[in-house]
Amino acid sequence: MQLANDGPDQRILEVGVGTGLSLPLYRDDAHVTGIDVSPEMLAKARDKVARLHLHQVDAIEIGDAERLGFSDNRFEAVAALHVASVVGDLVRFGAELRRVCKPGGRIVIVNHFSQAAGPMHAVEQALAPLAGRIGFHADFPLKNFVRASGLRVRAVRPINLFGYWTLLDCVNEK
Ligand SMILES: C[S@@+](CC[C@H](N)C(=O)[O-])C[C@H]1O[C@@H](n2cnc3c(N)ncnc32)[C@H](O)[C@@H]1O
Repeated sequence: MQLANDGPDQRILEVGVGTGLSLPLYRDDAHVTGIDVSPEMLAKARDKVARLHLHQVDAIEIGDAERLGFSDNRFEAVAALHVASVVGDLVRFGAELRRVCKPGGRIVIVNHFSQAAGPMHAVEQALAPLAGRIGFHADFPLKNFVRASGLRVRAVRPINLFGYWTLLDCVNEK
């Protein structure tokens, strides 16, 4: 989270915050808002905020990544961790992240992107028609995501031992 969190007093939006796994990683002087479509997830995230005294978290709210209830340019940084492959409309998702992030701000995406070849490619292709039922897009190539979301990617980094998860460091060009 250091990338979305690299300066003092930043307003940061985390989209699809889930149970709030990442919340303890934000700086003490950040002003974090977490949103998610799931009330059950949000209850767990709120519990974590209270239990761990996470004063950097301003709000945990119900919200849809495809229709964010925030004004334009509201946040210095926006993060979406393990969310991109579960939202329905990537064009709207990307447009909303860019709209609420200020110009020149940072947008950080972490996701698994499908492989162009190899054994995982075959599995991901086989699962592709089941996206609606399994709740995520198994066949999710990076270039398709970048094209649909309209995000300007500055750097692509593998972020775990086997490079299964990828971090996209994006700058918000408006
Ligand atoms: C795989 S979980 C990741 C949770 C968290 N970001 C993490 O890394 O632990 C995906 C989350 O995205 C949420 N989600 C799915 N569609 C969403 C949407 N359209 N808007 C906001 N959140 C969404 C789900 O409810 C779930 O909490």
